[in-house]
Amino acid sequence: MDSGQAASQPSAAATTTSSSSIGQDESAVMNSMYQVDWVQKLLMQIKECLRQNSDWLGIDPSKPQTILDYACGNGTVSLGLLDSFPLAKFRGIDILDSQVQLYNEEASKVLGPDHRSRMYAIPGDLNDPEKTPVLSQPEWFTFDCAIMSFGLHHVDDPIDFLRLLGARVKPGATLVIVDWVRDTKANPPRVYDQARERKYNPSNMLPVPMGKVWPGFSEDDIREDYTLAGFTAVEVRIWPEKIDLPQQANFGGRSILYVSKATVPLPP
Ligand SMILES: C[S@@+](CC[C@H](N)C(=O)[O-])C[C@H]1O[C@@H](n2cnc3c(N)ncnc32)[C@H](O)[C@@H]1O
Repeated sequence: MDSGQAASQPSAAATTTSSSSIGQDESAVMNSMYQVDWVQKLLMQIKECLRQNSDWLGIDPSKPQTILDYACGNGTVSLGLLDSFPLAKFRGIDILDSQVQLYNEEASKVLGPDHRSRMYAIPGDLNDPEKTPVLSQPEWFTFDCAIMSFGLHHVDDPIDFLRLLGARVKPGATLVIVDWVRDTKANPPRVYDQARERKYNPSNMLPVPMGKVWPGFSEDDIREDYTLAGFTAVEVRIWPEKIDLPQQANFGGRSILYVSKATVPLPP
């Protein structure tokens, strides 16, 4: 594993070996999830967690900062932080066209037809930038902060993906990840991928209606993965409220979420 590589310089491997388990076929499942009671409560908790930690995320509220909301879904992160950062511009990316449409509809509901100046999403996948040529334009780099909420557990190789996200953020700025804390008692230990010499072996992912997922990340994983991806100054905050999941959704023992941040290093 190529530990210590700068977050701002993803390896060639990062763009070829990492992939996401989600595809356009999962759109209907994703959209129906928003009607489910516990999902609505979870999204409220994510917003509350981000709001309560807004002065810790590394975003300057007095400046017109540009924030990447990666794997944006229907806009939980951007909507949750709009009031905390009234000068900020939120830019969403999601692999599913249906989610991008929902994001822009939500933005329009809250901000009116001129929402683009504050909140706007496009379809895209950093694993496959060639499919979204617009992502090579300068405005999709040098973000003042990138936030990925409940998206990292969908990607095959979370370490590669942290690198890809870090390359979109200004050196010295922060990447923020919100996700499930892994329940190490409820889940068998992960098996190192000997063949590919990687920490994450996609065959250890768990099947769910939307493809396959990692059952969250332990605090040790979070710190190690950012570090292996080349980030510095890693910090993790565990959200104190347990998320009340119904039995059928309590897959992998997930019920606690975390918010974490790390800094993209300055060039030497
Ligand atoms: C559980 S939802 C989270 C949505 C939102 N961030 C939130 O916190 O409510 C996961 C989202 O990740 C998106 N996603 C999964 N893999 C992705 C990838 N490789 N690139 C972009 N989006 C991805 C899915 O389409 C979905 O909208």
